[in-house]
Amino acid sequence: MENCCPAHPFVKWAGGKAQLIEEIRKVLPLDLEKRKHLTYIEPFVGGGAVFFWILQEYPNIERAIINDINQELVDTYHVIKNDVENLILSLQELQQEYISLALPERTAYFLEKRQIFNKKNIHNTNLAALFIFLNRTCFNGLYRVNAKGEFNVPHGKYRNPKIADENNLRACSQLLQKVEILCGDFERTSRYADPNSIFYLDPPYKPLTATSAFTSYTKHGFDDSEQIRLGRFCQKIARKGALFIESNSDPKNINSQDTFFDSLYETFLIRRVSATRMINANASKRGAISELLISNIANRQP
Ligand SMILES: C[S@@+](CC[C@H](N)C(=O)[O-])C[C@H]1O[C@@H](n2cnc3c(N)ncnc32)[C@H](O)[C@@H]1O
Repeated sequence: MENCCPAHPFVKWAGGKAQLIEEIRKVLPLDLEKRKHLTYIEPFVGGGAVFFWILQEYPNIERAIINDINQELVDTYHVIKNDVENLILSLQELQQEYISLALPERTAYFLEKRQIFNKKNIHNTNLAALFIFLNRTCFNGLYRVNAKGEFNVPHGKYRNPKIADENNLRACSQLLQKVEILCGDFERTSRYADPNSIFYLDPPYKPLTATSAFTSYTKHGFDDSEQIRLGRFCQKIARKGALFIESNSDPKNINSQDTFFDSLYETFLIRRVSATRMINANASKRGAISELLISNIANRQP
């Protein structure tokens, strides 16, 4: 699914939503492709699996706004939009150097590049190249930072990682030309809410168990009070006439009495869909479980 369209995510990202796309499609308004003056907004864009898909699937989307709190990720979107050819050259150089090394030397090379990346005193385009390089060569394509905000994922052991994917980067760059790219807290996107707007929200999921927590995309984390703040945000944009779809975890997988989201979103529609969790330290726990799609779009059959 991830590679169905010319432009697809240029990084692997925890919580990537490629597998939920068909379920999201079922929740979208039936007449979406006929709507005019549409604005698409994604406040937690991450790797952008849904963003890249929806912009190509619905070319009538006139304008899009993407946002994420991760500064390095957002800077990379900007570089892909504005300086893609130089980015490709830097990535090709990294790819040639890395692939020519034997495994132990690759680890040393990776650690050296990680250190340069964490110092952040290089030109934006080179920093974006390192961001993509580290994502392609680190363990599981994770992005995790320590308390100081430093990327600290260890080296992965992929034999032949695709570091410079020129065709995809050019396709992403073309698509990004009509996109406004923001970095900050999700709340600042509420100003784009109006009756011609549609939001897809994919926040860090509420962890189902203490050990399944994966909320360190940034040093700030995302706890229950953040989930409640997001619930209020959805009410606010809905009042302004915007449509929204949010995905989140389903606490009922663990405790059938847990009504956290059912209460928080009681005025909206909640659909339970099946998904496979990708980020879990314990490989045996990567089975299918249910996830939530919460929305205010009522024109579909359940
Ligand atoms: C589940 S991921 C999104 C995954 C994405 N849909 C994909 O397909 O790759 C959640 C994203 O929210 C971002 N984030 C965390 N807290 C945030 C906040 N307060 N405001 C905006 N973005 C935030 C993280 O940096 C992360 O990229």
